[in-house]
Amino acid sequence: MTERTLVLVKPDGVQRQLAGRIIARFEERGLKIVGLKFVKVDRALAERHYAVHKGKPFFDGLVAFITSSPLVAIAFEGPNAIGMVRTMVGATKPADAVPGTIRGDLAVEMGQNLIHASDGPETAATELAIWFRPEELVSYEREIDRWVRGPEAR
Ligand code: RTP
Ligand code: MG
Repeated sequence: MTERTLVLVKPDGVQRQLAGRIIARFEERGLKIVGLKFVKVDRALAERHYAVHKGKPFFDGLVAFITSSPLVAIAFEGPNAIGMVRTMVGATKPADAVPGTIRGDLAVEMGQNLIHASDGPETAATELAIWFRPEELVSYEREIDRWVRGPEAR
Protein backbone atom coordinates (compact mmCIF):
# COMPACT_ATOMS: atom_id res chain seq x y z
CA MET A 1 0.00 0.00 0.00
CA THR A 2 1.31 3.45 -0.87
CA GLU A 3 1.97 5.44 2.28
CA ARG A 4 3.34 8.81 3.26
CA THR A 5 5.57 9.35 6.27
CA LEU A 6 7.34 12.20 8.02
CA VAL A 7 11.11 12.30 8.41
CA LEU A 8 12.97 14.99 10.33
CA VAL A 9 16.70 15.43 10.02
CA LYS A 10 17.02 16.79 13.54
CA PRO A 11 19.32 19.69 14.50
CA ASP A 12 22.31 17.40 15.09
CA GLY A 13 21.99 16.11 11.52
CA VAL A 14 21.99 19.65 10.13
CA GLN A 15 24.85 20.71 12.43
CA ARG A 16 26.90 17.71 11.33
CA GLN A 17 26.09 18.52 7.68
CA LEU A 18 24.56 15.11 7.14
CA ALA A 19 21.17 16.30 5.86
CA GLY A 20 21.93 15.61 2.21
CA ARG A 21 23.39 12.17 2.92
CA ILE A 22 20.44 11.19 5.08
CA ILE A 23 17.90 12.34 2.49
CA ALA A 24 19.92 10.57 -0.21
CA ARG A 25 19.60 7.22 1.57
CA PHE A 26 15.81 7.34 1.22
CA GLU A 27 16.01 8.66 -2.33
CA GLU A 28 18.43 5.90 -3.27
CA ARG A 29 16.05 3.32 -1.84
CA GLY A 30 13.39 4.63 -4.22
CA LEU A 31 11.16 6.60 -1.88
CA LYS A 32 9.69 9.73 -3.42
CA ILE A 33 9.98 13.21 -1.87
CA VAL A 34 6.52 14.78 -1.77
CA GLY A 35 7.31 17.60 0.69
CA LEU A 36 10.49 19.29 1.91
CA LYS A 37 11.26 22.26 4.16
CA PHE A 38 14.07 23.75 6.24
CA VAL A 39 12.79 25.26 9.48
CA LYS A 40 13.73 26.44 12.93
CA VAL A 41 10.72 25.33 14.93
CA ASP A 42 9.12 27.14 17.84
CA ARG A 43 8.28 25.56 21.15
CA ALA A 44 4.56 25.23 20.39
CA LEU A 45 5.15 23.15 17.26
CA ALA A 46 7.84 21.05 18.95
CA GLU A 47 5.48 20.27 21.85
CA ARG A 48 2.72 19.26 19.43
CA HIS A 49 5.13 17.02 17.55
CA TYR A 50 6.35 15.32 20.74
CA ALA A 51 2.99 15.45 22.58
CA VAL A 52 3.11 11.68 23.13
CA HIS A 53 6.22 12.14 25.30
CA LYS A 54 4.82 14.98 27.46
CA GLY A 55 5.47 14.25 31.14
CA LYS A 56 8.44 11.96 30.48
CA PRO A 57 11.77 12.91 32.06
CA PHE A 58 13.42 13.56 28.69
CA PHE A 59 10.59 15.72 27.28
CA ASP A 60 11.95 19.17 28.18
CA GLY A 61 15.42 18.34 26.90
CA LEU A 62 13.97 16.91 23.70
CA VAL A 63 11.92 20.05 23.00
CA ALA A 64 14.85 22.29 23.90
CA PHE A 65 17.13 20.40 21.52
CA ILE A 66 14.75 20.28 18.58
CA THR A 67 14.09 24.03 18.86
CA SER A 68 17.78 24.91 19.30
CA SER A 69 18.77 24.98 15.65
CA PRO A 70 17.16 24.37 12.23
CA LEU A 71 16.03 20.99 10.97
CA VAL A 72 14.87 19.53 7.68
CA ALA A 73 11.36 18.09 7.41
CA ILE A 74 10.67 15.70 4.56
CA ALA A 75 7.53 13.86 3.50
CA PHE A 76 8.35 10.60 1.74
CA GLU A 77 5.93 8.49 -0.26
CA GLY A 78 6.23 4.89 -1.33
CA PRO A 79 4.96 1.34 -0.85
CA ASN A 80 4.90 0.60 2.89
CA ALA A 81 6.92 3.78 3.38
CA ILE A 82 6.23 4.09 7.13
CA GLY A 83 7.71 0.75 8.16
CA MET A 84 10.41 0.88 5.50
CA VAL A 85 11.69 4.22 6.76
CA ARG A 86 11.62 3.09 10.42
CA THR A 87 13.68 0.03 9.49
CA MET A 88 16.20 2.22 7.68
CA VAL A 89 16.41 4.62 10.66
CA GLY A 90 17.29 1.91 13.21
CA ALA A 91 16.79 1.61 16.97
CA THR A 92 16.23 4.74 19.08
CA LYS A 93 19.33 4.01 21.13
CA PRO A 94 22.24 4.19 18.68
CA ALA A 95 24.14 1.50 20.62
CA ASP A 96 21.33 -0.91 19.68
CA ALA A 97 21.05 0.29 16.10
CA VAL A 98 22.26 -2.25 13.57
CA PRO A 99 25.02 -1.20 11.14
CA GLY A 100 23.44 -0.40 7.81
CA THR A 101 20.76 1.68 9.50
CA ILE A 102 21.16 5.46 9.63
CA ARG A 103 21.58 5.55 13.41
CA GLY A 104 23.72 2.38 13.32
CA ASP A 105 26.07 4.00 10.83
CA LEU A 106 26.11 7.64 11.93
CA ALA A 107 25.05 8.09 15.57
CA VAL A 108 26.27 7.23 19.07
CA GLU A 109 24.11 9.37 21.42
CA MET A 110 20.43 8.77 22.22
CA GLY A 111 19.84 12.52 22.43
CA GLN A 112 21.60 13.03 19.11
CA ASN A 113 20.20 10.19 17.06
CA LEU A 114 19.94 12.40 13.97
CA ILE A 115 16.51 11.59 12.70
CA HIS A 116 12.84 11.25 13.49
CA ALA A 117 10.44 9.03 11.56
CA SER A 118 6.72 8.48 12.04
CA ASP A 119 6.07 5.19 13.83
CA GLY A 120 2.68 4.19 12.37
CA PRO A 121 -0.15 5.21 10.03
CA GLU A 122 -1.97 7.40 12.58
CA THR A 123 1.22 9.10 13.74
CA ALA A 124 2.25 9.70 10.13
CA ALA A 125 -1.07 11.39 9.29
CA THR A 126 -0.97 13.53 12.44
CA GLU A 127 2.68 14.51 12.03
CA LEU A 128 2.40 15.32 8.32
CA ALA A 129 -0.49 17.65 9.18
CA ILE A 130 1.60 19.32 11.89
CA TRP A 131 4.57 19.96 9.62
CA PHE A 132 2.99 20.56 6.20
CA ARG A 133 -0.02 22.47 4.95
CA PRO A 134 -2.03 20.34 2.46
CA GLU A 135 -0.78 22.38 -0.52
CA GLU A 136 2.84 21.82 0.54
CA LEU A 137 2.49 18.08 -0.10
CA VAL A 138 2.82 17.58 -3.82
CA SER A 139 1.44 14.58 -5.72
CA TYR A 140 3.19 13.78 -8.96
CA GLU A 141 3.97 10.77 -11.07
CA ARG A 142 7.38 9.57 -12.07
CA GLU A 143 7.75 7.83 -15.41
CA ILE A 144 8.96 4.71 -13.62
CA ASP A 145 5.74 4.54 -11.54
CA ARG A 146 3.76 3.64 -14.68
CA TRP A 147 5.63 0.32 -14.86
CA VAL A 148 4.64 -0.47 -11.30
CA ARG A 149 0.99 0.25 -12.08
CA GLY A 150 0.96 -2.19 -15.02
CA PRO A 151 0.50 -2.26 -18.81
CA GLU A 152 -2.71 -0.20 -18.87
CA ALA A 153 -0.87 2.73 -17.25
CA ARG A 154 1.93 2.87 -19.83
P1 RTP B 1 11.83 9.65 17.00
O1 RTP B 1 10.44 9.81 17.58
O2 RTP B 1 12.70 10.85 17.20
O3 RTP B 1 11.77 9.16 15.58
O4 RTP B 1 12.59 8.50 17.76
P2 RTP B 1 12.01 7.11 18.21
O5 RTP B 1 10.60 6.92 17.73
O6 RTP B 1 13.02 6.09 17.81
O7 RTP B 1 12.04 7.27 19.78
P3 RTP B 1 10.93 7.83 20.77
O8 RTP B 1 10.70 6.79 21.79
O9 RTP B 1 9.75 8.35 20.02
O10 RTP B 1 11.69 9.04 21.44
C1 RTP B 1 11.80 10.29 20.82
C2 RTP B 1 13.18 10.84 21.00
O11 RTP B 1 13.38 11.18 22.36
C3 RTP B 1 14.70 10.89 22.75
N1 RTP B 1 14.64 9.94 23.84
N2 RTP B 1 15.38 10.07 24.89
N3 RTP B 1 16.60 9.65 27.40
C4 RTP B 1 15.66 8.82 27.00
O12 RTP B 1 15.28 7.88 27.65
C5 RTP B 1 15.06 9.05 25.70
N4 RTP B 1 14.11 8.32 25.14
C6 RTP B 1 13.85 8.91 23.97
C7 RTP B 1 15.41 10.33 21.55
O13 RTP B 1 16.13 11.40 20.91
C8 RTP B 1 14.28 9.87 20.65
O14 RTP B 1 14.65 9.91 19.29
MG1 MG C 1 9.06 8.34 18.10
